[in-house]
Amino acid sequence: MALQIRSLFADRIGQLGTENAFKIGPHIVAVENSGKKVVRLNLGEPDFNLPEYVKDEIKRQLDLNNTHYCDPKGLLSLRQAIAKQMQSMRSLTVSPERIVVFPGGKPSIGFCQEVYCNRGDEVIYPSPGFPIYESFTRYLGVTPVPMHLKEEHGFSVSADELSRLITEKTKLIILNFPSNPTGGVATLEQLEALADVIKRKCSPEVRVYSDEIYEYITFDGCKHVSIASLPGMEQRTIISSGFSKTFAWTGGRIGYAVFPTEEEANVFKNLNINYFSCIPPFNQEGARIALEHPQSPAVIEKMVATFQHRRDVIVRKLNEIDGITCLTPGGAFYLFPNIGGVCQKLGVIDAYDRLPAAIRQRTSPSGMFQMFALYNHQVAVMDRNSFGKIGAEGQHYLRLSSASELSVLEEGVKRIEAAIQDKHGFASFIADRAAELL
Ligand SMILES: Cc1ncc(COP(=O)(O)O)c(C=O)c1O
Repeated sequence: MALQIRSLFADRIGQLGTENAFKIGPHIVAVENSGKKVVRLNLGEPDFNLPEYVKDEIKRQLDLNNTHYCDPKGLLSLRQAIAKQMQSMRSLTVSPERIVVFPGGKPSIGFCQEVYCNRGDEVIYPSPGFPIYESFTRYLGVTPVPMHLKEEHGFSVSADELSRLITEKTKLIILNFPSNPTGGVATLEQLEALADVIKRKCSPEVRVYSDEIYEYITFDGCKHVSIASLPGMEQRTIISSGFSKTFAWTGGRIGYAVFPTEEEANVFKNLNINYFSCIPPFNQEGARIALEHPQSPAVIEKMVATFQHRRDVIVRKLNEIDGITCLTPGGAFYLFPNIGGVCQKLGVIDAYDRLPAAIRQRTSPSGMFQMFALYNHQVAVMDRNSFGKIGAEGQHYLRLSSASELSVLEEGVKRIEAAIQDKHGFASFIADRAAELL
């Protein structure tokens, strides 16, 4: 019998998206290897260190040999601490049995699509939004339904827009406040309007996935409100959060989700068993200390005040640049300037229209500016399409992270401004390097 040639990878693997914040790394290395230092405004992690008392607890746990398999749902001690936080932060009384610990805030995004959605079911998610929401949809055969956040509405989710997108096939509605990449925060009134639409139009089995990983990073005295705290929403909402942003601990890989029922939590526990058995117990005890330690509120407050000051300075500087408009974000540590004017002035839109179709498919005007700014002016930022591609045509934005010293941020903005004025450089970049770099 002749050997049949088969493709190496399963079809679904071609459908999986990615997080470009990780993909831009090799480009930065390539520029730095050529001897030029890059100003990195692409990073999605706070530029602070894990508090000493958390590190001390992790070291202590290692010395106690707390290095073995543990409860796949997460240590009870940590889940109890999370339950207390749910009470104090959201006025919710949650049994630890409804809580599951994951390696970061990220895994529950894909797991939820896997657990709640059949092929053909629809997932509504914010766009621009964290890329993993969209990335998993086609991989799992789920239909992606982007909910486009509009600058003119402060990048918030409008209840009317949500209402229009809900169909009989809707199974999961993803919300993210404070938002990555826009820094948008929903007011209580906006959340109430969303909750009303959801309760009116969705059957009780439709779940809201509320990604609240930036819950502590809110500005101007505003406090985070969870949609789960609104009447009738706790039983429909999965609250997801973690330790990566609040405690500047992206390498710790500790996140968690609170599920409407214990039954649901147990399904996720079984996914944990199937995928990775459990999360390192010494880090989980560190996370527990992070939540319980009396110094934590002051540590977080200091970090948030620093982000707010940087935001104020950089938003002002960005808005002084001809061709850029930038809203003032209410939370998280990102700025999301509109560079539509820049794309026109620098000839990016024209250059995009003239690209061969194959290259055009891989990029966008803001993606072209991103690569030009990196290779010719040594400043790394993220482009609009890094935050959901479907239906994003004609939207020209960048995401800048404010997770760097103010002097570094100011230098970054200077370089962006220099890139904007470098019309000749942009034309040469497109002529010489478009095929290779875009
Ligand atoms: C909105 C949002 N959700 C989830 C995550 C994932 O966080 P973690 O690193 O804890 O997996 C991020 C990280 O950038 C994020 O921005």
